[in-house]
Amino acid sequence: MSAVLERIAAVVGAAGLITDEAGMAPYTIDWRKRYAGRPLAVVRPASTREVAGVIRICAETRTAVVPQGGNTGLQGGGITDSSGTQIALCTARMRRVRAIDPINNTITLEAGCVLAQVQRAAEGAGRLFPLSLGAEGSATIGGNLSTNAGGTAVLRYGNTRDLALGMEVVLASGEVWEGLRGLRKDNTGYDLKHLFIGAEGTLGIITAAVMKLYPLPAARLAGIAAVDSPGDAIRLLEIAQRQSGDSLTGFEMFSDFCLALVLKHFPGTSAPFRTCYARSQYVLLEISDSRSEASGRTAIESVLTEGVVAGVVLDAVVAQSLAQVQAMWALRENITEAQAREGQNLKHDVSVPVSCIAEFIAATDAEVRRAYPGVRLVTFGHLGDGNLHYNVAAPQEVAPEAFMREAAGLTRIVHDNVARFNGSISAEHGLGQAKREEIRRYKSALELDLMRKVKAALDPLGIMNPGKVI
Ligand code: FAD
Ligand code: MLT
Ligand code: ZN
Repeated sequence: MSAVLERIAAVVGAAGLITDEAGMAPYTIDWRKRYAGRPLAVVRPASTREVAGVIRICAETRTAVVPQGGNTGLQGGGITDSSGTQIALCTARMRRVRAIDPINNTITLEAGCVLAQVQRAAEGAGRLFPLSLGAEGSATIGGNLSTNAGGTAVLRYGNTRDLALGMEVVLASGEVWEGLRGLRKDNTGYDLKHLFIGAEGTLGIITAAVMKLYPLPAARLAGIAAVDSPGDAIRLLEIAQRQSGDSLTGFEMFSDFCLALVLKHFPGTSAPFRTCYARSQYVLLEISDSRSEASGRTAIESVLTEGVVAGVVLDAVVAQSLAQVQAMWALRENITEAQAREGQNLKHDVSVPVSCIAEFIAATDAEVRRAYPGVRLVTFGHLGDGNLHYNVAAPQEVAPEAFMREAAGLTRIVHDNVARFNGSISAEHGLGQAKREEIRRYKSALELDLMRKVKAALDPLGIMNPGKVI
């Protein structure tokens, strides 16, 4: 064992250090199997004190550190390079809920807490932790903060950034910044926590956080509407927002091709309608009601009825039970896994102003199809936030691997259209290693320079997740 690893072992003990290839394997490849690394070791500290001890050694020895939570990130941000010199620092052993304060509506968590565990802990205290995403059974709160994850309830509750009140961070020097405040008002200078949110582990290691809680709604009502086009989906969004305001907690859209993929790869799922609405879009909307199930049902039915009367809804169905609500969400949340089972595709996580969504889709679809006839567009996403997962899959008769080699240029078409509509080429997944170069085309020189200055100020030795983001 190298001298560095011997010192790290003295801090984390045998339970906190993995050096054999088989043991390290799950930490060396990303969820999409696009990025594989070869770490010097996987280090699994059990406390903030241990993280700080490890980082001090890394700073002294100039050893690069790549933080990893649940390894569900989609941009390769949590994977080391293949030099065999970087350590992967995994927070999986830091899963303690340190405190819940139902009066202050806050929960204090260690970074390795899994999102679903946090939701359950909040519910146990009669509160809602609203962050919700398809990978919530594995993704950690540290990963959510570091990617500023979005998910399916942003429309009402905001991104992870909007849910964070305080933070504890081990800095690149090994010092611990103790900022675990549960305050909704604190204007005492720069709000440091925001530097670490969305930094993808390039500025420090988040070890704990104070997050906001909300009252549990009395009822969650979900419905699916078939609409003819993204434009009609946006008109339905306008109706839903006008009628329901803040009770509208989810507004997702997916194409009939996305639905077909889920039905093909998840045998337990079934189509929402008997009629096949080929070439249409589906909207999944959710209303959370603070009064009662009956009042929520009236609200969602009223939205859908106005949609039908206005001619924007072709057909609609409302869930009659919690099981049906979950079955509807399964159609939406299994799209990522279904498209992975279908084979590799070009993924784009983009946002444009909601008012431009329909025009963006029409223009980009036409250009992409002209450039590569026969491609299958896997377009879905968080419509209420203007966030689309605009993914492009190989034509039926082309092998996905060959398509990925030949069609990488399509990303330029998609991203240039995003820029034309004043959008972002990473709405919620971050840059990681996947978009580190691509972002240079779309961010101004001034913005990139400011980012480099922040990085140099907080990580002067360049040991925190090098090669990611910037
Ligand atoms: P990891 O993948 O382990 O790491 C992500 C990044 O954060 C890396 O750069 C890593 O170095 C850094 N990091 C991790 N922990 C820390 C820490 N404690 N301190 C500092 N840096 C750290 N994302 C969305 O935004 N919305 C969605 O709807 C969504 N749905 C998904 C559905 C599926 C099926 C999958 C596979 C992924 C989905 N994602 C989604 C992406 C992913 O789940 C999120 O990015 C999530 O926040 C990552 O959490 P993680 O713990 O897995 O982080
Ligand atoms: C989702 O919304 O399902 C995710 O962000 C995952 C994806 O983009 O595939
Ligand atoms: Zn998403």
